[in-house]
Amino acid sequence: MPNVVVVGAQWGDEAKGKLVDVLASHVDVVVRYQGGNNAGHTVIVGREKFVFQSLPSGILRPDCRCVIGCGVVVDPASMIEEMEALVQRGVSLDGNLYISKNAHLIMPYHPALDRATESKAGKRRIGTTGKGVGPAYADKAGRIGIRMADLLDQRLFREKLEYNVIQKNRILREIYDAETFSVESILGPYLRFAGWLAPYITDTALLLSQWMNAGRSVLFEGAQGTMLDIDHGTYPFITSSSTTAGGACTGSGIPPTKIDGCLGISKAYCRRVGEGPFPTELHGETADLLRSRGNEYGAVTGRPRRTGWADAVALRYAVRINGMDTLAITKLDVLDACETVKICTGYRYQGDVLTEFPEEERIWHEAEPVYEEHSGWQTSTQGLREYAELPTKAREYLERLSELIGVGFGVVSTGPERDETILMPDSPLTQWYPSLRGSIPPR
Ligand code: IMP
Repeated sequence: MPNVVVVGAQWGDEAKGKLVDVLASHVDVVVRYQGGNNAGHTVIVGREKFVFQSLPSGILRPDCRCVIGCGVVVDPASMIEEMEALVQRGVSLDGNLYISKNAHLIMPYHPALDRATESKAGKRRIGTTGKGVGPAYADKAGRIGIRMADLLDQRLFREKLEYNVIQKNRILREIYDAETFSVESILGPYLRFAGWLAPYITDTALLLSQWMNAGRSVLFEGAQGTMLDIDHGTYPFITSSSTTAGGACTGSGIPPTKIDGCLGISKAYCRRVGEGPFPTELHGETADLLRSRGNEYGAVTGRPRRTGWADAVALRYAVRINGMDTLAITKLDVLDACETVKICTGYRYQGDVLTEFPEEERIWHEAEPVYEEHSGWQTSTQGLREYAELPTKAREYLERLSELIGVGFGVVSTGPERDETILMPDSPLTQWYPSLRGSIPPR
């Protein structure tokens, strides 16, 4: 059974949640392997809308086991709130949620440090979600982080907490003039969280290995996107985890030899939230049109997202870094109203046209996008389920984009519902999951 990594090809919010939810009924296990409650994966089922921050999107499928891998940072209060809300909506979590003992905790001082750092960063502000994700990963790399396994060992937890509170309070007070924390104010709630989460905390790397050896199929659900990766993204305007396909191995304890493929997800246009370079960013009427048609407001923060044309240079880079075998293109219908649509094919910088994604911050900020212009189709593609039903110009746009980035599209998503999906018959996706073919009924 195939083990596939699903990653965002852009700056996050590519509508991965919908795709993972569609695929979850064809796999046995879904793993989140990085990020924290900074993510916002939206899944629409009938009239119900679910937004997942920490939990894997597969949690809505009763037969699907969901794992929070060691690469994730967990804010226990936020996770418990999410779990309780799901239980109230009739979703069972017993026996299908497993949290790694090695996953690190987001502690109350992490969001405080996140906000304090941002407030003093001036024009180097990242525009973080303020959830404490960066500071939690900084503690992990600095070897002073606190793991899920530590939470279950009361004495060790207190010892690590005391050390951290002294250190964090000094930073908060002396550098940022911000509010400080007492050990007792954290200890009580966190020990309650420990009691709540204990049944779910386990050696998930071992479990995954045993399940894979028994022939179960695992899907690795990436959060955020390639361009926010700590190593490969637009540093420092990134998140603090390995969002790319390599992160699936380190963030879950699964060797690269067990991964069979990579599915990338990209919108038909481009968007980003927060600060940082965005070469194809638009301003004015077209930007507003994409924002309102695409409902481009952050799933977690509600912030308006920045919008722009599809960037084939950045997408080709994402295909290369992740080894994407195929791509799912989402929100094609957002472009339905455009008279013309553009694709960025290069960046003009100091007289040269760059066709490979550069690594210099200055170039990201100063390069001018070189566009190819296509006439729009100006007819609704919303809800279409067959490729042949798409207007010719929409197909031409997709085929040109696919040619430029060097990988075919396995799925074209035409709306938020599970069945508003066009499945391409001969893509790697249908080879990995043959049962997908019959699962999306024709209109
Ligand atoms: P952090 O992950 O909260 O530290 O934020 C760092 C950067 O990543 C900011 O630009 C955020 O807007 C961005 N970011 C974090 N999570 C997401 C996400 O799920 N979707 C899109 N952008 C995100």
